[in-house]
Amino acid sequence: MAEVDARADRRSEGIVINDDWPGYSLDLFSYPAHYSGDLDCVIIPHGVIMDRTERLARNIMGDLGDHDIVVLCVLKGGYQFCADLVERIKALSRNSNHTIPMRVHFIRLRSYLNDQSTEDLHILGAEDLSFLAGKNVLIVEGIVGTGKTMETLLEHVKAFKPKMIKVAGLLVKRVQHSLASVPDYVGFEIPNRFVVGYALDYNEYFRDLNHICIISESGKKKYKV
Ligand code: HPA
Ligand code: MG
Repeated sequence: MAEVDARADRRSEGIVINDDWPGYSLDLFSYPAHYSGDLDCVIIPHGVIMDRTERLARNIMGDLGDHDIVVLCVLKGGYQFCADLVERIKALSRNSNHTIPMRVHFIRLRSYLNDQSTEDLHILGAEDLSFLAGKNVLIVEGIVGTGKTMETLLEHVKAFKPKMIKVAGLLVKRVQHSLASVPDYVGFEIPNRFVVGYALDYNEYFRDLNHICIISESGKKKYKV
């Protein structure tokens, strides 16, 4: 029994990428030439993100697919993951008898400057979420670090009395002092390093890169504000 439980827990961590994973050489993939020299390696190729997202969509539909879903996309870092996840949920919905109405709403959070989290968290577009009452809410985030942002957002959303709230995070960082709550659906657990690509930015750069990559020291210097 204990073993089964441990396995179920592991599923919620997603695909674990260890600290000693060197990633793939950039030369093995295509990426925009304007970023040459700005990246160390590819840690998750775009195709792997797509395959993992397909499975997450199935898990989500299994749990939430009994009632109207409202997807809350956390901008800007979550937009690509949210778009691809919603596509896959739509595909499941139109290819089975099991189909549910889904709405998508966007909110914006901002707390990072350079590669550092700042104390003040701004939530935009979340003033009146009364339409969430009685709905199954799926919060979709690109990356979860300490979990502080997610906790703040969860508190905010709970106040509008949804039927159920689940969180999907494409990436969860292994950070020290992280909060107890982790997303219900995790794509990948990654080392505590600054990653970019697939809508994740460094001062607004790198959202136009499709793989998830580690930024290089020279890349950080180049785009520092
Ligand atoms: N990359 C981009 N945005 C982020 C990260 C990261 O590693 N961590 C928190 N926000
Ligand atoms: Mg950012």
